[in-house]
Amino acid sequence: MEMDGKTIVLGITGGVAAYKAAMLASALSKRGARVQTVMTKHATQFVTPLTLQSVTRQPVFVDMFDERDPSRIAHIALADDADLVVVAPATADAIARVAHGIGDDMLTTMLLATRAPVVLAPAMNVHMYENPIVQRNLGILRDAGFYVAEPGIGPLACGYTGRGRLMEPDEMMEFIDMVLTPKRLANRTVLVTAGPTRERIDPVRYLSNDSTGTMGYALAQMAWRMGAMVTLVTGPVAKEPPMGVEMVSVESAQEMLRAVVERAPDSDIVIKSAAVADYRPVQAAAVKIKKTGRQFHLALTQNEDILQAVRAVRKPSSYLVGFAAETHDVDYYARKKLQEKGLDMLVLNDVFEEGAGFGDTTNRVTLYFADGAVLPLGLAPKLTVAGDILEHVVRRLGTADRAALPRPL
Ligand code: CTP
Repeated sequence: MEMDGKTIVLGITGGVAAYKAAMLASALSKRGARVQTVMTKHATQFVTPLTLQSVTRQPVFVDMFDERDPSRIAHIALADDADLVVVAPATADAIARVAHGIGDDMLTTMLLATRAPVVLAPAMNVHMYENPIVQRNLGILRDAGFYVAEPGIGPLACGYTGRGRLMEPDEMMEFIDMVLTPKRLANRTVLVTAGPTRERIDPVRYLSNDSTGTMGYALAQMAWRMGAMVTLVTGPVAKEPPMGVEMVSVESAQEMLRAVVERAPDSDIVIKSAAVADYRPVQAAAVKIKKTGRQFHLALTQNEDILQAVRAVRKPSSYLVGFAAETHDVDYYARKKLQEKGLDMLVLNDVFEEGAGFGDTTNRVTLYFADGAVLPLGLAPKLTVAGDILEHVVRRLGTADRAALPRPL
C-alpha cells in the first residue's frame, strides 16, 4: 500500500530499541509518507534528532515549548495533521503516562490530543513487560482504541531472553498497513486454503504440483488487514506465515479436507485457492520403493472434492469462493466449475497468460459470479488482486440469493 500524501507522526521514547525507529522512519518515508518525528528527552540519549531529521527530511520535535510557527501550536498541529501516530519504542513509562492521561511533554500531549489511530510498540525487559501494572496500562489503552504492536520473543538488551523485543521494522510496516486498511471485514471469519497438496508414494516421494501458495497467502494477509479473523489451511510451501493469521499446516488432500470441513461451518467466507491434487496413490508404501528394471505402474484413486464437502457443512449465509487454474477453453471450464461446485464466485487463472502463472508475483484473473456476471481484473501484484477479490466478496456478502444457486449435485 502506497503512503503518498499520508502524514505519520513517529513518537520515539527512551529505550535502546530507539535505533530501530530510524529504520522504521526510513521505510515509511520510502513508501511516500511524510514522517514527523516527536522524541522524548530520554530518546535523544539513544538516537539523535539529526538522524531522524536526515532520514525523514522533516523537522524533529523534542521540546514542548519549541514553538516554531506562531500561527499554530506545535503539539496540536502534529496531532491534527496525523493520519496515523506510531510510538516505537514505547517504554513502560510512556505507556503509563498516556494510560493515565498525563501530558507532560511534547509526545504525551500530542497523543492525548490526536484523533488519528495510534499504534504503540512496546519494548522493554521481559519482567517489566509481564508486570501486571504494565499489562493493566496496556489494557486501558487497548480499551481506548489504541493498537498494540506486541513485542517479539528473543534476546533482550538487558541480557534476558523473553518477550520484550520491539517488533521488527518490516513487521511494523505490515502492522501499520493493517491499521490503515478500512475494516471492511470486521467481525467476519474467513477460511482460506493455499498451496499444493502432497500425495505420498513412499516415505521419500510424493505427487504434487507447482502451486507456491502466493495467491492464498495474499488473500489471508489482506483479509486480516481488512479486520477479519483468518484461518489459513496450507499445504507445504516455503513461506512465512502472514501476520495475525491462524495457521493450520497440512500435507495431503485428505488432511486438507478434514481441516477445512472442521472449520467451514464457523466461517463467513471460504476461499479455496489451494491446488488440491486430484489423485493419490491407492496405497502409500511403508518403505522406500526399489527399482526393479521393469515398467512400474502406480495405481491412483481420486481424492474427494473438498468444495463439495464444504457445500454440505457451510453456513447458509456464507460466501464460497473457488479457484480454477486452466490452460485451455478457460471460459467454458470456469462456468462449468462455478455451476458444478455451487460457488458464489469463481476466480479464473489462465496459467498460460503472461504474468499470471504459478509462482509469479503478479496475477491477472477473471471473476465469475453465480448470478452470471463476469469481471476481468487487470494485471496487478497478487496482494492487490487479493484486495480486489475480497472487495467484491464484501459487496456481495449476505446478498447472495441462495434460491438462484444451482442445487448440490
Ligand atoms: N478443489 C477441491 N477439492 C479437490 C480438487 C479441487 O476443493 N479435490 C477446489 C480447488 O481448491 C479450487 C477448485 O476446486 O478452488 C477448482 O480446482 P481445480 O483443480 O481447477 O478443479 P478440479 O475440480 O480438480 O477439476 P480439473 O482438475 O478436472 O480441472
